[in-house]
Amino acid sequence: MVFLEVRGLCKEFNGIQALDELDMSVRQGEIYGFLGPNGAGKTTTLRIIMGLVEVDRGKIRLEGEPITADRRRDIGYLPEDVSLYEKMTVQENLIFFSRLKGFDKDEGQRVMKALRIEGLGDRKVETLSKGYQQKVGLAQMLIGDPGLLILDEPTSGLDPSVRRWLKDMMKNLKRQGKTILFSSHVLGEVQEICDRVGIISKGSMLTEDVFEDLTNVLDLEDRITVLMKPLKSSFKYVSELEGVKRPRIEGEYIVFYCSGVHKIKALRNIFSRDYRVLDVKLHEPDLEEVFVKLTEDDR
Ligand SMILES: Nc1ncnc2c1ncn2[C@@H]1O[C@H](COP(=O)(O)OP(=O)(O)OP(=O)(O)O)[C@@H](O)[C@H]1O
Ligand SMILES: [Mg+2]
Repeated sequence: MVFLEVRGLCKEFNGIQALDELDMSVRQGEIYGFLGPNGAGKTTTLRIIMGLVEVDRGKIRLEGEPITADRRRDIGYLPEDVSLYEKMTVQENLIFFSRLKGFDKDEGQRVMKALRIEGLGDRKVETLSKGYQQKVGLAQMLIGDPGLLILDEPTSGLDPSVRRWLKDMMKNLKRQGKTILFSSHVLGEVQEICDRVGIISKGSMLTEDVFEDLTNVLDLEDRITVLMKPLKSSFKYVSELEGVKRPRIEGEYIVFYCSGVHKIKALRNIFSRDYRVLDVKLHEPDLEEVFVKLTEDDR
C-alpha cells in the first residue's frame, strides 16, 4: 500500500526551479532511500512534506488523504541540521520537545530508553560530539511514536560506528512497523538498508524501484575477478568469450565485466577448461553505477 504519495510537486525559488513535477510513492512499512546529487531538491521535498516550505503546485497524500497539519503530527522529522538547545541537558531537551508535542515527561525517558542513550541524559548538548547530537536528534524524532519517519541526510558527517548504529536503528524501527524515508548521497548505505530507492535529479524523479530491478532494467554489468593459471593463455581465452567486456590483467588476476545472461555462461566455460581456477570474485553493480548511467544524458 502506498503510504505517502507525492504528485507533481513544483517549487521555484527566485527563478530557480528547485522541484519540477516531482512524483514519489513511499509504501507502508518500507525503508525508502531518496537519492540525488547536491541541489537536486531532496531537502526541499522533505520540507514541503513537513509543511515547512510552501509548495507552488502539486499534491501530497498520507494514507490516501490530503496531508494536513494534524496528520503531520504522526511524522517524525530529523532535519539536515539537528536543532537542540545547547545549554540544556539531553533530558531537558527531550522533555521540552515532548511537552511541545503534547506529551508528558515520561515520553522523553521512553525515547532515550528506546535508543539506549539514557547515559547521556545529564550531559549538556553543547558538550556532545556530532555523533551523539545526532543520536539525541533521533530520539527527538521518535517523540510521540510516529508512524512515518523522515530523515534528511542522517548519516552525513558521522564516523563509521555512529553510521552503523544509525543504520541498525533504522532497521529496528522498520521491524517495529515504521515507514522510513531518508535522503542520502552515500549510495552504498542506501543500497544496504533500503527496500526501494528513488533517484532525483534537477527536481524530478528519474526512477523509483527496488535496487535489483533497477540493475536489471539498466542491464548493468557485474565485475568479475578470476585468478587462473597459466595467466597468459587463460587471459586470451577469457577475453574472447561471448559477453566479456573490458578484460584486463590486474596483478595476478583477470578482471572483466559481464551482464546477466552472459555471466553464468562465461563462468561455466572458464571452469570447464583445463585451466587451474584458484579464485573467483563477483562484484555486483552498485548504486554509483546506476546513478552514473541514469544521469549520463544530463552531463
Ligand atoms: N530557501 C531557499 N532559497 C533559495 N533557493 C533555495 C532555497 N532552498 C533551496 N534552494 C535551491 O533549491 C535547489 C534544491 O535545493 P535542496 O536543498 O532541496 O537540494 P538537496 O537535494 O537537498 O541538496 P543537498 O544534497 O546539497 O542537501 C538548489 O538549487 C537550492 O539552491
Ligand atoms: Mg539537502
